[in-house]
Amino acid sequence: MYRTRTCGALRLADEGLEVTLAGWVQKVRRMGGMTFVDLRDRYGVTQLAFNQEINAPIWEQANKLAREFVIQVKGVVRERSSKNPNMPTGEIELIVSSLNVLNEAITPPFTIEDETDGGDDIRMKYRYLDLRRNPVRANLELRHKMTFEVRSYLDKQGFLEVETPVLVNSTPEGARDFIVPSRMNPGQFYALPQSPQTLKQLLMVSGFDRYFQIVKCFRDEDLRADRQPEFTQIDCEMSFVEQDDVLELFEGMAKHLFKVIRGVEIKEPFVRMPWHDAMKYYGSDKPDLRFDMRFVELMDIMQGHGFPVFDSAAYVGGICAKGAATYTRKQLDALTDFVKRPQIGAKGMVYARVEADGSVKSSVDKFYTQETLQQMKDAFQAEPGDLILILSGDDVMKTRKQLCELRLEVASQLGLRDKNKFVCLWVVDFPLFEWSEEDQRFYAMHHPFTSPKPEDIPLLDSDTGAVRANAYDMVINGVEVGGGSIRIHDSALQNKMFQLLGFTEEKADEQFGFLMNAFKFGAPPHGGLAYGLDRWVSLFAGLDSIRDCIAFPKNNSGRDVMLDAPTAIDQAQLDELNLRIVES
Ligand code: AMO
Repeated sequence: MYRTRTCGALRLADEGLEVTLAGWVQKVRRMGGMTFVDLRDRYGVTQLAFNQEINAPIWEQANKLAREFVIQVKGVVRERSSKNPNMPTGEIELIVSSLNVLNEAITPPFTIEDETDGGDDIRMKYRYLDLRRNPVRANLELRHKMTFEVRSYLDKQGFLEVETPVLVNSTPEGARDFIVPSRMNPGQFYALPQSPQTLKQLLMVSGFDRYFQIVKCFRDEDLRADRQPEFTQIDCEMSFVEQDDVLELFEGMAKHLFKVIRGVEIKEPFVRMPWHDAMKYYGSDKPDLRFDMRFVELMDIMQGHGFPVFDSAAYVGGICAKGAATYTRKQLDALTDFVKRPQIGAKGMVYARVEADGSVKSSVDKFYTQETLQQMKDAFQAEPGDLILILSGDDVMKTRKQLCELRLEVASQLGLRDKNKFVCLWVVDFPLFEWSEEDQRFYAMHHPFTSPKPEDIPLLDSDTGAVRANAYDMVINGVEVGGGSIRIHDSALQNKMFQLLGFTEEKADEQFGFLMNAFKFGAPPHGGLAYGLDRWVSLFAGLDSIRDCIAFPKNNSGRDVMLDAPTAIDQAQLDELNLRIVES
């Protein structure tokens, strides 16, 4: 037997016990006639004590130990003279009687401690060493616990886990596909699924009724902190359901996860916010509701007083930061610089402080009477000590998005984005279509299989952009953690959708004929949702990026720096695949 206990198991009650442990050398402390070694495995750390007098035969060997050696030791558990209350095993140590070096190790490129000296790049290159560190390992343990709970919850609700293929054709989720050449079909390519959307719909046609899959999805899109090119969905689909059925079931699952994973009991139903309100009041389809700071539109109050910037704007609106009137001129200038960054693109920012006597002092006082400024203050229900920040612009949506960035930045500065507070909501009633100025055509906002709200079907031709979808996203703390819709199950309506999306009949048939044909054989009404597992885990773990809850993630350029992928392939492989590299 390699070991009789793990490195996290021994306690004072085990004193006198002879045990065998195996693990990695975390730290060696040589102190005259004694050498102490911290031995680590997944379960914890145990202190080993080597005593020169008692252990003469292994003393020399013990003193050759270095960080990350893999060793096996036998010894007796003893109470420690200087205890460490911060370690579960801190009251004991193992007096070693025999030592077996299982594997020596070269010096690791960074310290394998909770607080490491290794930068991002080096830790990514040696990810298997980074994974030895407690915080990273804990994230993967959390991930395991979540998938375990998800499976158990969905199983109890009658869902069947069905695997769908990874070599498929293109699935239209709006990102670019990763493409795989087919050797046996020269000149033809598979696509890796952006999601198993069409396949899960086919499973509904097959009568599976309730499907789920914890599944890898692949999207070739620009990466951000909450995006990876391959990520994992908890993908679900249900038959004979309406929107409320889906929302209730998956809200139940969210509450279950909060309870079992974070110990947070959420009793109230999640707020359901129409997309239009989310955009109007928060400038985002994923509002962070841990704090209020709702937008207030000021066109009525602030236009027509001779301030040219506001008078000519299509949108004037602002937020009220409670208690932030203490912001200095320097802080306000920094906020102005923040909104003027090219990524945000505002032209400037107007501010107003509510003074202790209730009067308002603004950066544009010369254009406004105190009476108008008081009207503005009332519109925000602002109080003495509050700070009002206002943006304006020619494009309503763009200005709202800029104000959204400002809202988030100010909230971060005021410490309102507490990682241990969670506020969940559903954003509902998304528009079915999104107009592209660039391409002068409509795109599906979600995907082309999303059904319109029945009451909006008459608008499909007359006011296409106004049609609302039976689509919903779940948002927690400003992160879109899931999304789905009720699907179209009627071929005539689906064909109409394709037509509005600019597909010719041939193109629609070529891309989606298999689904349309299937629907002719009796498709049940159905709908579903997919949660982003990586985003859930990173929220629960309080991480800033989903990278740290993925065992082997890609970096921001989509590279696996540990495997050094992607790489060129050799000529023989290219020939076999009928591929030729064209230098650009
Ligand atoms: P959607 O595209 O909204 O819907 O994806 C569902 C959820 O997956 C997560 N997600 C991502 N996570 C990490 N990296 C990415 N690149 C990434 N892209 C998406 C998000 C998102 O909410 N087929 C539909 C679902 C349905 O209609 O049932 C779909 O894929 O948390």
